[in-house]
Amino acid sequence: MYAQMVKSEATNEDPEKLAAFQARIDAGEKIEPKEWMPEGYRKTLIRQIGQHAHSEIVGQLPEGNWITRAPTLERMAILLAKVQDEAGHGLYLYCAAETLGVSRDELTEALLSGKMKYSSIFNYPTLNWADIGAVGWLVDGAAIMNQVPLQRTSFGPYSRAMIRICKEESFHQRQGYDIMMKMAQGTPEQKAMAQDALNRFWYPSLMMFGPSDKDSVHSAQSMAWKIKINTNDELRQKFVDQTVPQAEYLGLTIPDPELRWNEEKGGYDFSEPDWSEFFEVIKGNGPCNAERMEARQKAWDDGAWFREGLMAHARKRAAAKVAAE
Ligand code: 3HC
Repeated sequence: MYAQMVKSEATNEDPEKLAAFQARIDAGEKIEPKEWMPEGYRKTLIRQIGQHAHSEIVGQLPEGNWITRAPTLERMAILLAKVQDEAGHGLYLYCAAETLGVSRDELTEALLSGKMKYSSIFNYPTLNWADIGAVGWLVDGAAIMNQVPLQRTSFGPYSRAMIRICKEESFHQRQGYDIMMKMAQGTPEQKAMAQDALNRFWYPSLMMFGPSDKDSVHSAQSMAWKIKINTNDELRQKFVDQTVPQAEYLGLTIPDPELRWNEEKGGYDFSEPDWSEFFEVIKGNGPCNAERMEARQKAWDDGAWFREGLMAHARKRAAAKVAAE
């Protein structure tokens, strides 16, 4: 439905303007907020950037849950720094979305009403410390795979936000992998925890790249507009090819009996995630969806007094400015 809407808006626009715009995209030019853009391009950007921002903020919850329970002061400090980084990533992305004429309040209300999504991965629980390692290693690893190409996205503010965000993501992934190394090289119980975390986070991490290309409703148009640089399956394949050797180094087993190197394609053959589970989770029926939404709703409600105070202050300053003129 959304893809049809985008297409129909595209046909209502001036063909010459559309052709000139596409020529700019094809030439690799950056599109800036005040420049002409098709309404469908603007709406697709608001959808993707807004959901990306929501993912950063909701993504703080599963890890934030373990800051006070980190095994050492050093691990607490590292995790605290990472979770704070994610808040900053969300702010960069909300600011990029606001340049398209949508407010943060509208984006937040769309999230809380279920009209906008956040990444499916954050609807899975973090049950123990090994999960914090798996989240850093696999989830941030997948996020890096997905975000590095987005540094070349056609919309200027999104591209610049991605460049800043990617600088911090490698620390996120490395601190997670370091936790997994400590656990895998620890006691048999610790290694078993690391293996269990890999078992539970492997397929949800593959789902982060989106449905298979044949079921991706936005990819074709998003790639034509260079909002998206690679397809979902391309990035998923790159992630698997990069991650399998890392698991082998840890002495852990990828929970996929079909996993094997395919010399001909130069990559691993692997089992697809359970897409019915994926679509259930993004419909709101995952293990932690309700908990995550309650937390975001509470944060929004608890911050109402602060937003009202800011608005009252702004109104007072505006009135004083008018009175002084
Ligand atoms: N979780 C939730 N929804 C998902 C999803 C996922 N993993 N993958 C796809 N979807 C949704 C899409 O949003 C779309 O629904 P919508 O029309 O309501 O928006 C529908 O499923 C169809 O998927 P498509 O492949 O057609 O959609 P896209 O072309 O938008 O591709 C995407 C999905 C690959 C996630 C793309 O939007 C993208 O690259 N987004 C930017 C990166 C991003 O958002 N990453 C999320 C993780 S951020 C993160 O991990 C933080 C890190 O610091 C830990």
